[in-house]
Amino acid sequence: MRTHYCGEINESHIDQEITVCGWVHRRRDHGGVIFIDLRDREGLLQVVYDPDIPDVFMTAERVRSEFVLRVTGLVRRRPKGTENPNMATGQVEVLGKELEVLNASETPPFQLDDDDVSEEHRLRYRYIDLRRPEMLQRLQLRSRITAELRNFLDEHGFLDIETPMLTRATPEGARDYLVPSRTHDGAFFALPQSPQLFKQLLMVSGMDRYYQVVRCFRDEDLRADRQPEFTQLDIETSFLDEEAIMTMMEEMLRRVFAHVLEVPLHDPFPRLTHAEALNRYGSDKPDLRIPLELVDLGDVMASVEFKVFSGPASDPKGRVAALRLPGGGDLTRKEIDDYTQYVGIYGARGLAYIKVNEVARGREGLQSPILKFLPDEAIRAILERTAAEDGDLIFFGADKANVVNESLGALRVKLGHDRGLVEYGWRPLWVVEFPMFEENEESGRWEALHHPFTAPRTDDPAELESNPGGVLSRAYDMVLNGTEIGGGSVRIHKADIQAAVFRLLGISEEEANDKFGFLLNALKYGCPPHGGIAFGLDRLVMLMSGAQSIRDVMAFPKTQTASCLLTQAPSMVSEAQLRELHIKLRKKPAKEETKA
Ligand code: AMO
Ligand code: AMP
Repeated sequence: MRTHYCGEINESHIDQEITVCGWVHRRRDHGGVIFIDLRDREGLLQVVYDPDIPDVFMTAERVRSEFVLRVTGLVRRRPKGTENPNMATGQVEVLGKELEVLNASETPPFQLDDDDVSEEHRLRYRYIDLRRPEMLQRLQLRSRITAELRNFLDEHGFLDIETPMLTRATPEGARDYLVPSRTHDGAFFALPQSPQLFKQLLMVSGMDRYYQVVRCFRDEDLRADRQPEFTQLDIETSFLDEEAIMTMMEEMLRRVFAHVLEVPLHDPFPRLTHAEALNRYGSDKPDLRIPLELVDLGDVMASVEFKVFSGPASDPKGRVAALRLPGGGDLTRKEIDDYTQYVGIYGARGLAYIKVNEVARGREGLQSPILKFLPDEAIRAILERTAAEDGDLIFFGADKANVVNESLGALRVKLGHDRGLVEYGWRPLWVVEFPMFEENEESGRWEALHHPFTAPRTDDPAELESNPGGVLSRAYDMVLNGTEIGGGSVRIHKADIQAAVFRLLGISEEEANDKFGFLLNALKYGCPPHGGIAFGLDRLVMLMSGAQSIRDVMAFPKTQTASCLLTQAPSMVSEAQLRELHIKLRKKPAKEETKA
């Protein structure tokens, strides 16, 4: 059909006759001469038709945007002054000799270069949206990244092994997508939230090193970096401890960044403990490009008159912290009010602040509605610990520790972006030493911070059960520029510890056997020490491509409400299908029915 891609034609092809196929990107009629910008996967190429060959010229007059053409012609240098330096093929053009319309196109629902098209419209006509060069480039980049990751793992002896999609619930903390069984009345499969249990079983089987580029399904609230079905690079190894696993995974990431983006990443990646990450950044996935840090003030605020501060400062679950914004003294009242509203989203009940006019003058050099409630030593501690300078603004959060962390952590990121403080480049890190469990405020029950198969830093079930809140796990998260791109752990490989963890999580022996009996059994038949990790491939590609959302690096993503606008899924099914699946739909509650 063709001799070349459009986008690869350059001065080296001058005087050659070529044949290219592609879509009409633009067509211009310059009174007597017709210009067609022909587009394929590799780029654009200008084709010129003049009336010398009348029937070909007539065909060229007839073509419209997005027609599919096959063009044969002679490559020539563009006339002086008409070169286009912004186009890879901008020094040359093709003088068209033949033209075949392979297919016509109706007027497309939007112009590819129109920036004003809603995402909804683009998703509905995704096949056209994907013709846009930036979408194409992102999918090309994604393919390259995946290939590099696979190469690395193949070279390191990992076996690519598939695991079932129709399976049982795999607890990763989200709701399951269920699939009804026709052959088992009333029973359901769950789509995997991750292949966690299967990859552990593969270690019991002696596969030693496993990986898979695998779709995972989670029915949870969607965000820019969350989709109901997404792709993990899932990895598991036997006989390696966390040091060895982290070292190898770092090497893999460094290799991918070096090969694909030609940028070096830190060697080794810095590490932060979970506690330190929360203390300094208010987040377990800190964006280290932002040079702002939280500072603790609990000890000096416990006895101040200002209840807003002294309350949380004297509460073991509370926190009082400050966040200094260098040069923030120029924020207007309105801007401060907006930030106060912003932290409200995270549950903060206010956002106290101090404007630092002149540090040297102490109290007199400051401006704030809360000054009158604070004794001199508290003010001294604030200025010292935040290293305040003239012209700064200091924000305060006082509440339950998680509220302060979330609100000041989010404010830190927002200020970083709003004030142009985000440094250029890549700042990967490991977050380690996670607590094993966290107490659910409402139910009072212990919950696993990672999944319940993560090993604690003790081999003694009694120690675990006597101090569940104090035990750390052998988990690690990889964080890049404020996004968690991967998480994993060394696993429990002894049945007694696994049983103790289930007990602590309030899972009865009966329930544990019912849900995970196959795993508990497998642990009895020679399970090696093992561990692994899973990377969010979509998130990694989003970061590496500079996209704002993982939707932009997926060919066919779902909307915020977990539907596919292109295929109109999910959709109603026939009564016959439901009957076959032994399913009867419940009537919607009356209220919603009237609304619909
Ligand atoms: P985890 O639940 O941390 O670990 O998932 C691993 C990585 O997958 C990505 N991710 C997502 N990406 C897009 N949309 C989502 N809804 C979504 N949820 C998670 C994140 C995350 O770091 N089985 C364990 C891994 C292990 O222990 O080996 C697991 O699934 O980047
Ligand atoms: P108030 O005494 O409620 O008028 O609050 C005085 C200042 O403290 C205001 O600037 C509030 O925004 C701020 N503030 C109130 N509650 C909190 C809180 N929990 N954390 C931080 N600042 C707060």
